[in-house]
Amino acid sequence: MLRVVVLVSGGGTNLQAIIDRVESGLIHDTKIVGVISNNKNAYALERAKAHGIDQVCVSPKDYETREIFNDELLKTVRSFSPDLIVLAGFLVVIPPAMIQEYKNRMINIHPSLIPAFCGKGFYGLKVHEAALKRGVKVVGATVHFVDEGTDTGPIILQKAVEVEQGDTPESLQLRVMQQAEWKILPEAIDLFARGRIQVVDGKAVIHK
Ligand code: GRF
Repeated sequence: MLRVVVLVSGGGTNLQAIIDRVESGLIHDTKIVGVISNNKNAYALERAKAHGIDQVCVSPKDYETREIFNDELLKTVRSFSPDLIVLAGFLVVIPPAMIQEYKNRMINIHPSLIPAFCGKGFYGLKVHEAALKRGVKVVGATVHFVDEGTDTGPIILQKAVEVEQGDTPESLQLRVMQQAEWKILPEAIDLFARGRIQVVDGKAVIHK
């Protein structure tokens, strides 16, 4: 049984997609053993509670220094003994020690087709604002392993979504979530649970 910890900061719609597919069996042999948020008001924590999943808030605001927060976050993650960490809209920089300890066992969902519209400052609505400003016709989402960079780890899955006439950042964000994020993040977890992902020469090889 794959033990998964999900890190969240906001509404938790990606978390909900994972919960639904674990409960329906679409994600095989997996248990969400914990949800951790940096934001005590994150609705994602309510979603976890509603499904009987342990949830905890570890906020940088509650610690004197970032180093002390980083240690506390890593300790909290370790306490769940996860096989896989999923960043589902987690907006806090992951401590380097945690990236090392969970190399190729920590994945992130990013709301663009990396390498477009990613890196520092590209998160949430900002991604979609930039896409509309550039006038691209196709956007999408990417699931990747987390490495020392920002959105630079081995790409696992991507899914494209058409930009529609009159799209606003909000309407585009919603369509990318509905048509891409909520599909490829659960799919990536299922592939990981079934041992179908290998990282070879820094690239993720998928055996569907
Ligand atoms: C989404 O925009 C997602 O693309 C990004 O963070 C946001 C999370 O949304 N990773 P939610 O908390 O999963 O609803």
